[in-house]
Amino acid sequence: MSSAGRGIFLTEILDNRALYPDTHVISIKRPAGFPDTEPGGFISIRAVENTTPLLLRPFSIMWQDDEHIEILVKVVGPGSEALSKKRTKEPVKILGPLGGRTFPAPSQRPVILIAGGTGIAPIAYAIKKWSAAGVSNAVLIYGAASSVGIARDILDEVVIESHYATLDGSLGFEGDAVELFKSLVLDNSLPEGDIYSCGPRGMVRALCDAVAGLDGMYKGRFVHHYTSLEAVMACGLGACRGCTVPLKGDGESTLKTVCSDGPVFDAEEIDWEGWTW
Ligand SMILES: Cc1cc2nc3c(=O)[nH]c(=O)nc-3n(C[C@H](O)[C@H](O)[C@H](O)COP(=O)(O)OP(=O)(O)OC[C@H]3O[C@@H](n4cnc5c(N)ncnc54)[C@H](O)[C@@H]3O)c2cc1C
Ligand code: FES
Repeated sequence: MSSAGRGIFLTEILDNRALYPDTHVISIKRPAGFPDTEPGGFISIRAVENTTPLLLRPFSIMWQDDEHIEILVKVVGPGSEALSKKRTKEPVKILGPLGGRTFPAPSQRPVILIAGGTGIAPIAYAIKKWSAAGVSNAVLIYGAASSVGIARDILDEVVIESHYATLDGSLGFEGDAVELFKSLVLDNSLPEGDIYSCGPRGMVRALCDAVAGLDGMYKGRFVHHYTSLEAVMACGLGACRGCTVPLKGDGESTLKTVCSDGPVFDAEEIDWEGWTW
């Protein structure tokens, strides 16, 4: 994604609704001059009057139109908690749009979207944006701890084939999104195509292992696997190198920044063994 038009913007909350107790959908007024983004792009944001935490916090863009930028915020610490308490018209500071590489637009092949937890945010943006562009051969696999964490209304009116996994079995498949993926592959219930994923690092790694482990008639079914990674970030701009991920190289791995070289990477290029931090 081009950095043209990127900047720090003062704007305000338009709406804040609790999707479930610790997770909010926050709609922000799109500032004048804020560029269009692609799925996988993100912003860093902070409530204006809060100086703790000092750093802005990164959140994937879940939707964007002429008036709104929407994000999904799970409360895990002070920055996300402060945001979750913001009400309509309260000011926020955003830096964006961020990300050097977003999800590539789908080819003619079917699209298999796999999300874990709040990883649904960029995946939901992809589904809504690509559906509007006429992509109809998409399948969603979406996992969370329990049915409470599955935001089924997040896609608004867009309908796609969806498979849910919950760890406690309260909705859909009992297990995680990767186990569900494997089960659907073995049942021949998934089309051959390209995978787009986002979720906790452990989930994405397990998904890579699952795809690499497919053999026999299942081998090579998934041509590309694009994944949007998360990492603890500071500057968000590629300057501090606090968010590096090792990619496999010739002999030794090379370090790339999640904020600026990613957040989207070709999953098979990630050096999972070497990513020890
Ligand atoms: C590109 C990108 C997109 C993201 N999109 C979303 C999103 O759509 N919705 C959402 O709820 N969160 C998202 N996150 C994670 C979000 O940025 C963190 O949860 C947030 O920064 C935590 O800030 P805090 O002050 O509330 O908590 P902190 O006190 O900063 O952190 C609380 C705990 O969470 C851990 N943590 C913080 N950031 C991350 C991270 N990136 N990955 C793993 N662990 C982390 C910390 O190590 C600590 O243990 C995204 C992160 C990145 C890098
Ligand atoms: S957060 Fe500074 S380089 Fe990525």
